[in-house]
Amino acid sequence: MLKKRIPLSNDTPIPIIGLGTWQMPPGDVTYKAVKDALDVGYIHVDTAAGYQNEEAVGRAIKDSQIKREDLFVTTKLESHIKTYQGALDAFDASIKALDMPYVDLYLIHAPWPWSDIGSNHAKGNIEAWKALETIYASGKAKAIGISNFSPNDIKNILSEAKVIPHANQIGLFVGNPQHETVDYCTEKGIQIIAYSPLAIGYALTDSMVVKMASHYNVTPAQLLIRYTIERGAATLPKSTHAHRMIENATVDFQISSEDLALLSAYKNDPRKFN
Ligand code: A2P
Repeated sequence: MLKKRIPLSNDTPIPIIGLGTWQMPPGDVTYKAVKDALDVGYIHVDTAAGYQNEEAVGRAIKDSQIKREDLFVTTKLESHIKTYQGALDAFDASIKALDMPYVDLYLIHAPWPWSDIGSNHAKGNIEAWKALETIYASGKAKAIGISNFSPNDIKNILSEAKVIPHANQIGLFVGNPQHETVDYCTEKGIQIIAYSPLAIGYALTDSMVVKMASHYNVTPAQLLIRYTIERGAATLPKSTHAHRMIENATVDFQISSEDLALLSAYKNDPRKFN
């Protein structure tokens, strides 16, 4: 599964499974997790300037001695940067921190600063998108996209975009099926990438998930990760433990359409799973 890729709309192949690094402490913890992931066969790593762990990700990649072109690395523009020049400068800082000449995918991290979720930055997002188009044209990002964008946020940038975003990375998990955004992105050829496929761990102990997982003879984590793949997404389970990284990538099974519908309709708020 770890070597399986799907093509983005510009034919850049994205590995279906990647290591998420959100909430991994910078420095040694991230370094070891990325090193372990590469050792067990991951070829796709997702980071962000906002996670403050790009340096450790870059160092682990360098020390692995895997050829850069065999890997897929994503990073993201910090959510408060909404100017053209600010975005260009931030990208340069990211590839410097990663210590690599290019990234495979560069995303606008969110349509609003995390400190002001839901605030309107329609003009700023168009400015930032123009910068990403410039970066894409330079070849220093093989693909560009967005993260946490709703259909309305996407329509806003499409009103002036020359390049349609190649991907939208969203929190997609059982309990948060994101039907509207997935349908809209699918229609536009924008690849969905699922972050937090385990609902940050909360969904792992949910009784319905546990029961269905045992029916498939898989672990709850494997069922939850497979769910995101069956929804057409590339997926980014996060773990700092090598044995879990292996478990999370052993998801070569199929969920029946009936069970997929049950999982998609599941209404439990994942934050209340426990
Ligand atoms: P850890 O990093 O200690 O392995 P998400 O990917 O939805 O953000 O979830 C990440 C959380 O789920 C982390 O707390 C991670 O803990 C935990 N986790 C990841 N994989 C597994 C697994 N296979 N079994 C149990 N917990 C897991």
